[in-house]
Amino acid sequence: MSANAHRISDRADFTIEQNWRDYSDDEHVVWDLLYRRQVGLLADRADRAMLDGLKALDLGRGGIPDFDKINPELMKLTGWTVVAVPSLVPDEVFFEHLANRRFPAGAFIRTRAQLDYVQEPDIFHDVFGHVPMLTNPVFANYMQAYGEGGLRAVKFGRLKNLAALYWYTVEFGLIETPQGLRIYGAGISSSADESKFALEDASPNRIRFELERVMRTDYRIDDFQETYFVIRSYDELFRATVDTDFAPLYERLADGVRHSPGAVLPSDTVIQQGSQAWARRKSGG
Ligand code: PHE
Ligand code: FE
Repeated sequence: MSANAHRISDRADFTIEQNWRDYSDDEHVVWDLLYRRQVGLLADRADRAMLDGLKALDLGRGGIPDFDKINPELMKLTGWTVVAVPSLVPDEVFFEHLANRRFPAGAFIRTRAQLDYVQEPDIFHDVFGHVPMLTNPVFANYMQAYGEGGLRAVKFGRLKNLAALYWYTVEFGLIETPQGLRIYGAGISSSADESKFALEDASPNRIRFELERVMRTDYRIDDFQETYFVIRSYDELFRATVDTDFAPLYERLADGVRHSPGAVLPSDTVIQQGSQAWARRKSGG
């Protein structure tokens, strides 16, 4: 067990020091292995915004990124910083960080035995998956607004609906480009198996993003997605969420209509209907 595995925080905002010097050689090697594998897979699968962000932050410079080195660059680009946390933090703490343009990233890294799957978000998922997207100005603003919206959703008691929006965009979103569908969601881009599955497998549905539809859809956290929602641009996502007052929407959502993760509705714009031939496999990390 490394010095950096699962320390706990005694601060109100749940942050800890990253203690970059305490990572072992082997932990740096795990990052390098994961990095090389994902970059190879993502070259033709991830959206430009993700690939540009990886390059801008030089996340492949070798070894686990040192937050003190990437933060000045990220700050200069979009005003965001990355802060270290032990792992998942309570919802309100998470929203408060995002609303202040701080992304809380797990400081620990998975072991070699967990290369393909970790249940809790580690530094590879958080920093490789999420942080590159924060270099995109529109997406960076979306993430901040999401944090503010989270604090508001708590008051309306509609956190479940807002969590579905995060799930189907920030974690598992696809985007349509002239070259075809591309990945921008961190849950996909940080997973070797799901980055292939999300774009190439015949089983999942790929459905046009529509705000209320997404916010009514349940999701499963223990398998590949049965449905991916596809945006046309980050501007579209921004307008549908940041430029929309959710109060009337939350009123409507209170009627309790919920769709299962694999549902296809008559009102959907279906980009690719899934075969639903389901081989259950673990996704994630
Ligand atoms: N506009 C939303 C509201 O009125 C807030 C929000 C913005 C939520 C962006 C999600 C993403 O509550
Ligand atoms: Fe995540």
